[in-house]
Amino acid sequence: MTNDKRFRKLTFELMEQLLEVNNLEEALSGSLEIIVRELNSEGGAIWLLDKKTDRLAPVFHIGPEDISNVSIENGIGIEGIVAKTGRSMLVSDAASDPRFDGTVFDDYGIQTRTMICVPLNNVNDVIGCYLIVNKKDGSRYEKDELELCEHIAALAAMTIDEKGFFVELEEEKEVLASLRNVTKQFKTGDTYNLVLKGINLDIYKNEFVVILGESGCGKSTMMNIVGGMDFLTSGTLTIEGEDFSRPTDEQLTRFRREYVGFIFQAYNLMPNLTALENVEFIAELVDDPLPSSEALEKVGLSHKAGNYPGQMSGGQQQRVSIARALVKKPRLILADEPTAALDYATSIEVLRVIEDIVKNKGTTVMMVTHNAEIAKMADRVVKLRNGKIASIKKNLHPAHAEDLVW
Ligand SMILES: Nc1ncnc2c1ncn2[C@@H]1O[C@H](COP(=O)(O)OP(=O)(O)OP(=O)(O)O)[C@@H](O)[C@H]1O
Ligand SMILES: [Mg+2]
Repeated sequence: MTNDKRFRKLTFELMEQLLEVNNLEEALSGSLEIIVRELNSEGGAIWLLDKKTDRLAPVFHIGPEDISNVSIENGIGIEGIVAKTGRSMLVSDAASDPRFDGTVFDDYGIQTRTMICVPLNNVNDVIGCYLIVNKKDGSRYEKDELELCEHIAALAAMTIDEKGFFVELEEEKEVLASLRNVTKQFKTGDTYNLVLKGINLDIYKNEFVVILGESGCGKSTMMNIVGGMDFLTSGTLTIEGEDFSRPTDEQLTRFRREYVGFIFQAYNLMPNLTALENVEFIAELVDDPLPSSEALEKVGLSHKAGNYPGQMSGGQQQRVSIARALVKKPRLILADEPTAALDYATSIEVLRVIEDIVKNKGTTVMMVTHNAEIAKMADRVVKLRNGKIASIKKNLHPAHAEDLVW
């Protein structure tokens, strides 16, 4: 295809997308997805500039690494130079390019061979840049590809301008759980199935992280490993700095009992116990539980304390199971498709409770869902594909449960 034709085709695709989405992060991440696909790239990132601190941070990143917590000074590194000067850069062969002295990606095990970095130019100034790294076929980026990126960046910047926009970086986040090169292999009969193929992910304190991905890509497997319900085959898992790759029974019992709360698609309530008794049942196993009635109050169910599960709606039963998790005062709540069995209205009920938990700090929530709409509530959205991280997106302005529509 000639470049002209390609321009036209991409412009059309991009405009269509930009017009449709009403959320800036989605517009931006969509545009990067188009570039990475069109240029047959291994990965890329959108870096945005925080005017207050004069630093750049990635809001969306395609590739198997987790660079969410990285930030770089404006003017430093390829991204910084492009943001500072407002001029794009083509590094066709990184190894022989004197301008190239490594980017932050090098610290994350990404070997840069060839790259393109183009500024996101607003009317008045530069608000960030796109960085596209390595081609899948091993070839180098060429000038016409740089032009293509510039073209898309210009369109994206125009949209940003129209929608009004500012970036404020949060302070450095503290890591709660950290996965490094985590693999998981299942053995069924004589066959081995490699389900997780090298996951690198940090989960921060007080964050709400949503995991998306197709059925069978390894979401539940990853979550179960983080929750101490299953074990990794290779790699490392640390929890608040403590190695948890091969936990002892003692470590595990303590962790499961006191540290982590689970919420599943099935509520798993005891049918012959009332809502309150269901919560008390868990509280009795814990050293320093929240009063059970307070846990029920937190999920808005004080008035149903005496009801049996059969006398409650699905949403209410799920809220009881959340109360059961909360009564442990967990540092981490793992929720595997908590709304999958619920209709829209009761889902929102449950999501409102989860939003409250996150807002009140002290608890990290990691939630697996198939519903991309729910992902808008998250601080970060991690997409898994075929046992690897495909992309990570930060939501600069997470949505409220009430605002979700599906
Ligand atoms: N205990 C197990 N033994 C053998 N294979 C397993 C086991 N648990 C999961 N798998 C396999 O691992 C792969 C990933 O499963 P996982 O449950 O993590 O997927 P998922 O992303 O949560 O999918 P879904 O969205 O359908 O819940 C699947 O192919 C599954 O068959
Ligand atoms: Mg699953």
